[in-house]
Amino acid sequence: MNFKTIEWRDDKVYMIDQRKLPLEEVYVECSDHKQVADAIKTMVIRGAPAIGVAAAMGAALGALGIDAKNHETFAQKMEGVLALLLATRPTAVNLRWALERIRRLIQTSADLKIEALKSRLRAEAIQMAEEDVSINRQMGTHGANLIESGQTILTHCNAGALATAGYGTALGVMYAAHAQGKRFEVFADETRPFLQGARLTAWELAKNDIPVTLITDNMAGHLMAQGKIHAVIVGADRIAANGDVANKIGTYGVAILAHYHKIPFYVAAPLSTIDLSTPTGKEIPIEERSPDEVTNFSRQRVAPEGIKVRNPAFDVTPNELVTAIITEKGIVRAPYEKNLKDLF
Ligand code: MRU
Repeated sequence: MNFKTIEWRDDKVYMIDQRKLPLEEVYVECSDHKQVADAIKTMVIRGAPAIGVAAAMGAALGALGIDAKNHETFAQKMEGVLALLLATRPTAVNLRWALERIRRLIQTSADLKIEALKSRLRAEAIQMAEEDVSINRQMGTHGANLIESGQTILTHCNAGALATAGYGTALGVMYAAHAQGKRFEVFADETRPFLQGARLTAWELAKNDIPVTLITDNMAGHLMAQGKIHAVIVGADRIAANGDVANKIGTYGVAILAHYHKIPFYVAAPLSTIDLSTPTGKEIPIEERSPDEVTNFSRQRVAPEGIKVRNPAFDVTPNELVTAIITEKGIVRAPYEKNLKDLF
């Protein structure tokens, strides 16, 4: 990858500004946890694993800014930092997963001096970014077996290097297959309303020499009916214990289309996206975003003033529409309730 999604450098966090891609390649600098929280909220950085890593780095920045004489005060002040970061976005469970990992580390490090604990938290956040990349590569190795040369793969939203600390989940599978010499094409759904497909997936795949064709979301059914799509691979924001998958709005429709046309529908996601404490998709909180994203196309208003709008940012694909889930530990198929549990 010739860009960095997120990076810790000289006790600052740098993120490529995903709101500006592909027109501008600029980086946002965060020097405290409030700026990181703001960056997650405003979508400078997005994508479940990337949000998790950003939160961990935000927590580490927050820790550096704390003035405390003892562990108890430090831990108390850190709770405020963690709460602010947790409140940024509700659906991607990687956010909570990452902050829980930081909280556990604080709880189990009461013997460390405050300065040493701060360094330990910084090291943990950096390690979480490195782990994320290697997990994605493992996922890629497993998932690449599902792709054959000559195929056309459809993807929705962006589950690439930009949505992770690097390499990607759904796109990571494609990068791994490509590195194995397989030659295939990708169709990228534009992904209204935030256009992650048009702005990010198209940019990222083209930058990595994978042939990509951009389509609007409503074209997928037509292309499937014509026999042009051989598999769908998407990422996930949260997978419930029964295998229901929350992912970017529109994924559910793609899954139904794939089912109807007998096309395999794969979900690539790390274990940190699997939430065994959420029994089914019904309990997954779905973020509702600003109506402006729907009434405007880019910055141009396209809808009448005062119109009522809904803007759920995610939907849930029921497990029966999911052919397999690709994880760093291997490929999981139904029955998901049992097989996902076995992964842990
Ligand atoms: O709103 P976003 O852009 O954060 O939503 C991202 C997605 O829905 C991705 O498909 C998901 O996080 C998987 S990323 C590897």
